[in-house]
Amino acid sequence: MFLFTILFWLIGALLIYLFVFDHKIHYRIKIIDLLYRFLLFKTVDFSSSTIERKFESHLPVIKSDTANGVKSEKIQVEHDGVPITLYVYKPLGLGEKETVPCMIHYHGGGLIVFHPNNRVEDHPSREICRRTNCVVVSVDYSLAPENKWPKQIDESYAAFKWVLESEHEMLKNVDLEKVYLSGSSAGANLATLVTFKARENNLVSAIKALCVFYPWFYVHPLVDSRQKNEWTYMTYGNFVDWAEHCTFGDKRDSAMKDPKVCPMLNESFKDLPPVCIVSGSRDMLKDEALLFKKKLKNDNIPVTCKVFPNATHESLGLEWLKSTVLQFDYIEDFLKTHDLI
Ligand SMILES: *[C@@H]1O[C@H](CO)[C@@H](O)[C@H](O)[C@H]1NC(C)=O
Ligand SMILES: *[C@@H]1O[C@H](CO)[C@@H](O)[C@H](O)[C@H]1NC(C)=O
Repeated sequence: MFLFTILFWLIGALLIYLFVFDHKIHYRIKIIDLLYRFLLFKTVDFSSSTIERKFESHLPVIKSDTANGVKSEKIQVEHDGVPITLYVYKPLGLGEKETVPCMIHYHGGGLIVFHPNNRVEDHPSREICRRTNCVVVSVDYSLAPENKWPKQIDESYAAFKWVLESEHEMLKNVDLEKVYLSGSSAGANLATLVTFKARENNLVSAIKALCVFYPWFYVHPLVDSRQKNEWTYMTYGNFVDWAEHCTFGDKRDSAMKDPKVCPMLNESFKDLPPVCIVSGSRDMLKDEALLFKKKLKNDNIPVTCKVFPNATHESLGLEWLKSTVLQFDYIEDFLKTHDLI
């Protein structure tokens, strides 16, 4: 018992040391990494066709729905017969007649876990809403494997159309001349595909910008940072493979060759809006971000791209990282440059 108590305090002291001093960031990330790995592997059955999303409860929303001067509300709507669930974030104290930009956001989680208001995904939406005084519509698309592709992209596109067309009272402050898209990880792929689909339907001019955070573009054969950084926070070789299998099932290999799944395979990036890419040197998917930058540059699309040193996957959700604040500053500058704030 005595030994146990000593051990308990030693571990406690170590954790405090690691978490209070910022220069120990790598150790912090390693510990979170280990915990996450432990939780993931202990609670998830990788072979199952449905997932018990137990480890989500380890990423609870610890804030109220009015935290940081922003009110979030969950609504259920429908567009063209497609039911969609959305979380709408608005700055508290927004004037009745005030009109502000609108960011439509697609959360990460490999299309199999997470939702707009868990710990990691709520923060970017809330923070961008607070910093830039805009409305954020975060899309709670249906998750795989219970819901197979293309349901996720269909709902994502429906959400975009809903924002443009609906007269819902939650949209009454939205300036339709200032709508832009964003996405984290696999959600960045959704945001990019929505942009391509909008281009196909002559609607791309309604999207004033596209922001992708640590994108997951399903380009396994095209890049190599997946091999180099196999164990980085929130993305693991196993997790990535498993998520792709959950989403596409037996069709995974053919899906990865389909530009309707993997937008990097499209032959043209012309007419896309200005793009902001945020990635991290410790993100296993970093090379996918750089590939996007290259493709955009080839077609003369304005692109703002930065790989933040030592930043990991999902780093915008890690409030305690210094790098996270710098990333928000970077996004804010991009939005200013393009007249979206
Ligand atoms: C590229 O994207 C456009 C939509 O913007 C789509 O019509 C076209 O089919 C895509 N290309 C391929 C090869 O799928
Ligand atoms: C990134 O991490 C390396 C060690 O892995 C460290 O030497 C370097 O100072 C870090 N850079 C920043 C900007 O934190």
